Amino acid sequence: MKKVLVATDKPFSKVAIDQIRSVVENAGCKLELLEKYTSEAELLAAVEDVDGLIVRSDIVNSNVLNAAKKLSIVVRAGAGYDNLDLAACTAKNVVAMNTPGQNSNAVAELVFGMLILAIRKHYNGSTGSELRGKSIGIHAYGNVGYYVGLIAKGFGMKVYAFDPFVSADRMKADGVEPVNSVEELYKTCQFISLHIPANDATKKSINKKLLSLMPKGAVLVNTARKEVINEDELVALMEERSDFMYVSDIIPGNQAIFEEKFAGRYFFTPKKMGAQTEEANVNAGVAAAKQIVNFFKTGDETYRVNK
Ligand code: 3PG
Repeated sequence: MKKVLVATDKPFSKVAIDQIRSVVENAGCKLELLEKYTSEAELLAAVEDVDGLIVRSDIVNSNVLNAAKKLSIVVRAGAGYDNLDLAACTAKNVVAMNTPGQNSNAVAELVFGMLILAIRKHYNGSTGSELRGKSIGIHAYGNVGYYVGLIAKGFGMKVYAFDPFVSADRMKADGVEPVNSVEELYKTCQFISLHIPANDATKKSINKKLLSLMPKGAVLVNTARKEVINEDELVALMEERSDFMYVSDIIPGNQAIFEEKFAGRYFFTPKKMGAQTEEANVNAGVAAAKQIVNFFKTGDETYRVNK
């Protein structure tokens, strides 16, 4: 009997686990759980005899892959797969997948939760401002970007996007105004929502030069990855511009500086919360389970991300 392990430092809801279990058990496999683990050693012990692995942002590196002697597939239940060592997966003959789109709406809703918190001054009693009529720039128009645009239109915002991999026609069809360069996006929009993946091309790419183009009252919303921000330069910019705010679903490496210098101008979720809704847990978790059992049954490699 094949074994599937769900290894999540940040657990799925019970309802999601129940549904994942039923997908796995109905396919004649066994489900195992490792939740809220605190050391790599626990993960290494848990993967030893499993055939399939479901993770979230949990690190799957060569240590994990070496320990997982029977593993043939790992699915990142979510969008960004920068936590998977793809080359090591390929070297070990392990198929790596993600579940694109499944948690996108949850992340997009949090964008506005954090944006409103910022422009309403953390509900501290002083006068804030509204979203209606303001411009939001979606930096990378993938699944999350699409939902951000949809919600922004509901707020009566002007919606712009930059994404060299998505056609202008597709954006226009969604009622989103495409711009031709990343600089134009930052120059045009008071609010920017980041949806770029963390990779060699994007790491530290959100720098002072780019951010300084943003109009007065700028808010940068990061539900993507902290690695894409040049954190030292963000601090330098916020020192120069007292109007600039940063809200993020990922705690930056230099959090202490924000606490010391930028009171009221930043917000960080204590734990990454974008995808932490019951709906997103069910969507992403069940999709991951289905992808694994289909792979076992038919060899289906849809959503494979390693070569
Ligand atoms: C993703 O890439 O899907 C999101 O960042 C969610 O990550 P999480 O599953 O660790 O909450």
